[in-house]
Amino acid sequence: MRFQDRGVLVTGGGSGIGQQVCYAMMEEGARVAVGDLDLERAEATAAEIRRRKGDAHAFQVDVAEPGSVARLVDAAASALSRLDVLVNSAGVREIVSVLDLSFEEWQRVININLSGTFLPSQAFARRLVREGKSGQIVNLASTLGLMAAPNRAAYTASKHGVVGLTREMALELGDKGIRVNAVAPGVVRTPLTERYFQDPNYAQAIRDIHALGRWAEPREVANAILFLADEANGFITGTILTVDGGWTIGKKM
Ligand SMILES: NC(=O)c1ccc[n+]([C@@H]2O[C@H](COP(=O)([O-])OP(=O)(O)OC[C@H]3O[C@@H](n4cnc5c(N)ncnc54)[C@H](O)[C@@H]3O)[C@@H](O)[C@H]2O)c1
Repeated sequence: MRFQDRGVLVTGGGSGIGQQVCYAMMEEGARVAVGDLDLERAEATAAEIRRRKGDAHAFQVDVAEPGSVARLVDAAASALSRLDVLVNSAGVREIVSVLDLSFEEWQRVININLSGTFLPSQAFARRLVREGKSGQIVNLASTLGLMAAPNRAAYTASKHGVVGLTREMALELGDKGIRVNAVAPGVVRTPLTERYFQDPNYAQAIRDIHALGRWAEPREVANAILFLADEANGFITGTILTVDGGWTIGKKM
């Protein structure tokens, strides 16, 4: 198994893509620390893993709070006895025009998506460097880290920031044995996007933006995350891997 006895920490592991990363990692032999703002959801993910005879621990964390993140990384390291992989999947987004976007909402999205990727990554990398160990970080960017879409100014800015942070950390940490990569998914059906699919016209529009003519399931993104975290692919760093069904390759005429 690809991640046998590895220690894997997933933020946002209580839902959607993060939850599927936790399950996929467990299936590959990893021991999993599930971090989420919503402790009940994190507990539910961990309970499902334990039900399937895996090893998982749930932790409450606010990824935008340095103290909370420091406690998470310490607690995950001692619960798992080693930390090898960090997946930053906690995230939020607004849907409001840039003219109506409040400063509070701007700050909330930037804090959770961008600072909430920086803080766990820094704490994780500091620990590995201190212990002289190698490791992998995989971030959740988005197609909106590479291009824009209306009514998502803070989200788009935050995900462009995640792309830059991924490259920056990859450059600085490469010679310390820490690889840093990101996935840039198209539309994935999760609780974050569920309401898109309630309107048949909007659901069809989502199919139409992807060359493959459909949206993604969260496990498809989780599979790409495991690919980037896998040491068999150990020469990949600083890569932004689109998992977007062809959304960004061009517009259909
Ligand atoms: N779903 C998509 O279409 C899509 C597309 C591209 C990128 N992404 C990115 O993938 C990541 C996961 O998205 P998802 O669709 O699985 O969303 P989701 O809403 O299903 O899960 C996100 C999780 O993050 C947690 N969270 C929110 N704020 C937090 C905080 N401050 N601290 C800790 N945890 C917090 C939530 O409680 C939730 O469990 C996000 O970064 C999102 O931007 C999603």
